[in-house]
Amino acid sequence: MPIRVAQYSGFCVGVRNALETARRAAEAAREKQIGAYCLGELIHNRFAVEELERAGVRTVESIDGIPEGQAVILRSHGVPPETLEECQRRKLTVFDCTCSYVAALHRIVQKAAQEDMPVILVGEMGHPEISATAGWCFKSLREGNRERRVPGRCVIVSSVQDAERIPDMPRALAVAQTTLPLDTWERVTEALERRVGALVRERTICGATARRQAEAMKLAGECDCMIVVGSRTSANTRRLYETCAGICPRTCLAESAADIPPGFCDIRKDSIGLAAGASTPDWLLKEVVTRMNDTEKDILENVQEAKEAAQEAVEEVKEAAETAQEAVTETAEAAQEAVEAVKEEAAEAEKPALTEEEQRKQDFLADVEKSFVRIHNGQTLTGKVVQTTDDEVFVSLGYKSDGILKRDDLVDKDAKPGDEIEVEVVKVNDGEGNVILSQRNIINRKVWDALVEKFEKGEYVEAVGKEAVKGGLIATCDGVRAFVPASRLALHYVEKIGQFVGQTMKLKIIDVDRQKKRIVASRKDVLIEESAAKKAAAWEKLEEGAVVKGIVRRFADFGAFVDLGGVDGLIHVTDLSWGRVNKPSDILSTNQEVEVKILSLDPERERIQLGYKQLQPKPWDNIEEKYPVGIVLERPVVRIRTFGAFVELEPGVDGLVHISQCALTRVGKVEDVLSVGQMVRVKVLNVDPEAKRISLSIREVLADEAMEAPMVDDIPGEIEEAPAEEAAEAPAEEAQE
Ligand code: F3S
Repeated sequence: MPIRVAQYSGFCVGVRNALETARRAAEAAREKQIGAYCLGELIHNRFAVEELERAGVRTVESIDGIPEGQAVILRSHGVPPETLEECQRRKLTVFDCTCSYVAALHRIVQKAAQEDMPVILVGEMGHPEISATAGWCFKSLREGNRERRVPGRCVIVSSVQDAERIPDMPRALAVAQTTLPLDTWERVTEALERRVGALVRERTICGATARRQAEAMKLAGECDCMIVVGSRTSANTRRLYETCAGICPRTCLAESAADIPPGFCDIRKDSIGLAAGASTPDWLLKEVVTRMNDTEKDILENVQEAKEAAQEAVEEVKEAAETAQEAVTETAEAAQEAVEAVKEEAAEAEKPALTEEEQRKQDFLADVEKSFVRIHNGQTLTGKVVQTTDDEVFVSLGYKSDGILKRDDLVDKDAKPGDEIEVEVVKVNDGEGNVILSQRNIINRKVWDALVEKFEKGEYVEAVGKEAVKGGLIATCDGVRAFVPASRLALHYVEKIGQFVGQTMKLKIIDVDRQKKRIVASRKDVLIEESAAKKAAAWEKLEEGAVVKGIVRRFADFGAFVDLGGVDGLIHVTDLSWGRVNKPSDILSTNQEVEVKILSLDPERERIQLGYKQLQPKPWDNIEEKYPVGIVLERPVVRIRTFGAFVELEPGVDGLVHISQCALTRVGKVEDVLSVGQMVRVKVLNVDPEAKRISLSIREVLADEAMEAPMVDDIPGEIEEAPAEEAAEAPAEEAQE
């Protein structure tokens, strides 16, 4: 019977957003070379949490476990305001995954507290969402410039009994945990109405939860068995299970396909419903469906196998009967032969005595008979090809009759008379006195033995994908069938298994069925081991201070990532050039081979810091020789400040044209005569290599040019000397830029 999956199953929008944000956070943290931490498990599903761990997200129970300056992921349950403040104090980069339903709940509670309205939270005591929401129940008071928080009145009730125990109140606001079952909300608020004079009911149950429960209840009422897929630690899943179990007694809670008890349901007879909690990944749901369908397939296969086994047993009985018949025949023949022999002996006795020659001949024949080898079924021996036809090859085994090898069973296709070949005796006597041989049986056995040996040693095998089936891929390794489960095909979930058909791949055998001669193999294990080995080999070669070659793979705002042959290192933007860098791609390009210096290694966090500029000449070396006092150069203005303009002499070396040196006449504002990007002719006035300062002048260049210019009587405007103290006004750090 087809399996029915509840329409609203698997990740809700809040969980999906949280996972996407967490993946983005992991990526951003990796690029910034900081750690990514999740405050509590992101979702109640160990598979998803493990996936995030592999992406570099560490789960911590308290904010105290997060060092300053790192990235923190706040899960969909939300956090109290104190936690947000603590994040600020610790300078953490916050990735807030608080679900919008939960955030709305916080706002409602805070507004009520601000208006002095007591708040009753209906939900699970100790659940992180309830604890965080209680933190938002405060009244904010202004005291001058400061804000002070006064805790509001907040009561948490989980059941009707809790509701009946609260003290009487004139008025209160009741709100629900977003994943609270509808009927619990109705029952608890009914009880609350008896204790509270004016109860305002704000049903804050999220739409996804309500729809999920309604759909699961409907399915549970229509199916023979229900399977709720999800984690036992998820309140949402547990409630879904309890809701379904209350309607359908044959309900089970399974974290994965392996948790479904054997014999729980019969897919051929029972109608089966499947529902999943909000924190259950889609692929887990698919795996359960696949597994259930495979179970049906297995049952059918088992029936088929049982039929085949029965058929084989019949054949074996027949064979045994034939063998017995042969034995009877042989015995009868032997008896007959014995009788004949006795008769012959009697006749012989009656015969006149043999001549010497006749006796020699007889002894010779007896010796020949004795020289024949003895053979049995299943024996492997070496024979000599004596004759070949289109269909058969005849092999001499030293037995009284030659063996027959059908071409289909021949592996040495070029066998010719005189060649020695290895054969297996399939039947000593096929009923007509022929010995039946096979070479293929030997090869098959050898191949199988070699595969089993590789399995025991953990070695890889080469296989070719043959057929996509439900739950995985059928591949062949040297002619032997291998099953690769879908979850073992790649590092991530594979949507289209068909893409592997016809593909040659390396596999690791993970299970062997010696009786059925079947193997189960994994491509994922190979990929994981290969990547780990590649990384380890790359790390072995790395050494702080060493100069290595790598390929630029990608850019981020803060630097460039370089592939060092299995591991990536980061050249931070400040280590790209001695000069100012607008963006890393101005200095390097993708796939460019670069030589870099390893500045630091952190194997634990898998971080490699590289330097590119460290291998480039320093621009301030020999600066006085490059820019002697008095030299005139044409260079661009790169920055303008109130005290002057900076002119770039070369990347990493800027000189200052003080405002008094910007023009022949007095200048009010630097911008009146110069603009960024403008090419200007400057004269070097002074070079200070220690302080890394170069003073330049435009005015002197203009004055020199005016003096040299013919036909000029006077210089327009009034030339003023720059006051010494004005020149000294340029802030030191600006001048050093
Ligand atoms: Fe949000 Fe509802 Fe999911 S509250 S996290 S959408 S179950």
